[in-house]
Amino acid sequence: MPQPSKLAILGISGSGRKRSYNTALVEAAKQLLPRDATLEVVDVTGLPLYNQDLEHDMPEVVKELKKKIQGADAILFATPEHNYSVTAVLKNAIEWGNRPPGDASWSGKPAAIISASTSLRGGVRAQLHLRQIMIDLNMYPINRPLLMVANAKDKFDTLLTKRLARLYEMFSQVL
Ligand SMILES: Cc1cc2nc3c(=O)[nH]c(=O)nc-3n(C[C@H](O)[C@H](O)[C@H](O)COP(=O)(O)O)c2cc1C
Repeated sequence: MPQPSKLAILGISGSGRKRSYNTALVEAAKQLLPRDATLEVVDVTGLPLYNQDLEHDMPEVVKELKKKIQGADAILFATPEHNYSVTAVLKNAIEWGNRPPGDASWSGKPAAIISASTSLRGGVRAQLHLRQIMIDLNMYPINRPLLMVANAKDKFDTLLTKRLARLYEMFSQVL
């Protein structure tokens, strides 16, 4: 009998930092996935800076990203917070994905947001900004549970493995 196809989740971290807590978070999701889901994490740090002049002949890396977004059933964003908002890295990927108007790749996709920050707030302001951006993208953000990892330095060990069992538990609920 043919097996029902698995839910394909595309994971995106908004950080290019080698020891990024957000990249560690989205990678950790691979161990917590429900059996009927897959997770591919795509690296968006190498994309050129968005420029409307390039839209008519999109760079190959952008075409590949758009194909992955279109093929995904759901998106998992791991967003750092820079200056109370999402990072330039993430916003750049979002802009490419949303263009040109007839080829808005994010449209209609459900998305979960997770964040880690070294501050007390855990990236909540970046999460809120991302929700606002999703209105324009015509995406469907998942409201609960919220996962924000505050004081991220204390929540990961030297191998960037999460320390707290409670974090794992909440993360599983997000997925
Ligand atoms: C340019 C810059 C701006 C930042 N702004 C904020 C901020 O507004 N709020 C916050 O909670 N953390 C802020 N931080 C600290 C980040 O939370 C911290 O660098 C975190 O490790 C970034 O995520 P990453 O480890 O995934 O790169 C900022 C860091 C940088 C480098």
